Amino acid sequence: MIDLLLGLQWGDEGKGKIVDVLTKNYDIIARFQGGPNAGHTLIFDGNKHVLHTIPSGIFHKRAINIVGNGVVIDPVIFKKELDNLSSYNIDFKTKLLISRKAHIILPTHRLLDAASEKMKGKLKIGSTLKGIGPTYMDKTGRNGLRIGDLEMSNWNERYKALTKKHLNMLKFYEVELDFDLEALEKEFSHTVEILKELTFIDSEEYINQALSNGKSILAEGAQGSLLDVDFGTYPFVTSSNTTAAGACTGLGVAPNKIGDVFGIFKAYTTRVGSGPFPTELFDADGAEMAKVGHEFGATTGRPRRCGWLDLIALKYAVQINGVTQLMMMKGDVLSGFDTLKACTSYNYKGDDIFHFPYNIEEDNVKVNYTEFEGWQEDLTAMTEAGQLPKNLNDYIAFIEDFVGVKVSIVSVGPDRKQTIMV
Ligand code: GDP
Ligand code: IMO
Ligand code: MG
Repeated sequence: MIDLLLGLQWGDEGKGKIVDVLTKNYDIIARFQGGPNAGHTLIFDGNKHVLHTIPSGIFHKRAINIVGNGVVIDPVIFKKELDNLSSYNIDFKTKLLISRKAHIILPTHRLLDAASEKMKGKLKIGSTLKGIGPTYMDKTGRNGLRIGDLEMSNWNERYKALTKKHLNMLKFYEVELDFDLEALEKEFSHTVEILKELTFIDSEEYINQALSNGKSILAEGAQGSLLDVDFGTYPFVTSSNTTAAGACTGLGVAPNKIGDVFGIFKAYTTRVGSGPFPTELFDADGAEMAKVGHEFGATTGRPRRCGWLDLIALKYAVQINGVTQLMMMKGDVLSGFDTLKACTSYNYKGDDIFHFPYNIEEDNVKVNYTEFEGWQEDLTAMTEAGQLPKNLNDYIAFIEDFVGVKVSIVSVGPDRKQTIMV
């Protein structure tokens, strides 16, 4: 069976940390969508690592890590990630396998991303500017270049043709963009050569063989359900399906092969980039979450917007993904609040509603909150469920009851060890 691990909010729930914690139970860890817009943080033995494209199982001796067909790869960023791991003596050739069907982010995809955002002005998505949107557009537009194309004899011509097309497209954007294409291309071709030293596979074949042979696989999601291109807060979303269905298309596994679906959420909510966020706080409580939670983007360093937990949104994400187990992250950040709030219904154009509506812009949606008594205890040194304060347990019980799924992990700090199995 293949288990899935997905973010249920707007990303940065702590997926990297939990994949790292769970990897010991799996033979294979596989990323299935997104690309270097992701930033997955792992902390262990006093060291911190941020992974963008490489799956978060890479530090474990045994597991094979696969970059699936649904992922988009920027060779330049990929090489940086490899360099950052150089002191770990990882045998990348055998432990890190890349799907031939994964699409490649070209330097001009990044330029198109920048031009598009610049032209949108105030309405910009707040993209990480890694070229994600333009690369997925070329994929669905049937113009993209894939990892397997690097092994074909006409790679150079195809690269040149697509780049030429992109440069023409750039002229349509009425914005000034400063760039040195020659330098970008030099860096790109150099890093493509390094990428070619890794192992490319027909990953859907590899993964289905592994499943037939009884191997266990964990699929690692990127971003979160509210950034899903279909079900998120469109157009303020990313360009891939971040939800459970994305794992089927992004790895080539059938729905009946899926076992558990682990849904990860923060005890509060964060969002980086633009777009609606009904429970967002602009007061001292929000500032406290940002400060204690160190809420800065792992990829761009931008401050993350913070707010209360939104249980309507969480329930929506649980439903779309078929979540079987919940994992609650960063409960430690809420220690010290006298009162906590969670959104338990919206007022949508004057009526109270209990589902996630088409549009959650401020004009349409007001939040109805339920209040909870906070806890004062520092959770960060706790190691067992029995130590957790009563008010935290009550908060968790309410969430479980509201969304209809049990919490199996409570994370009480960023370190691998600060993880309580319930
Ligand atoms: P991801 O994108 O879902 O992997 O999450 P990120 O790595 O972008 O962001 C999560 C941040 O929270 C990282 O800085 C983690 O080190 C940190 N983190 C993860 N779990 C916890 C936790 O339980 N408590 C605290 N305080 N920090 C955590
Ligand atoms: P992880 O995997 C949080 C957000 C961006 C922007 C929108 C579109 O670390 O949880 P894109 O670069 O995809 O065009 O950006 O999506 N975004 C993320 N926010 N965590 C992420 O990944 C994100 N990846 C993209 O901030 O609002
Ligand atoms: Mg992140």
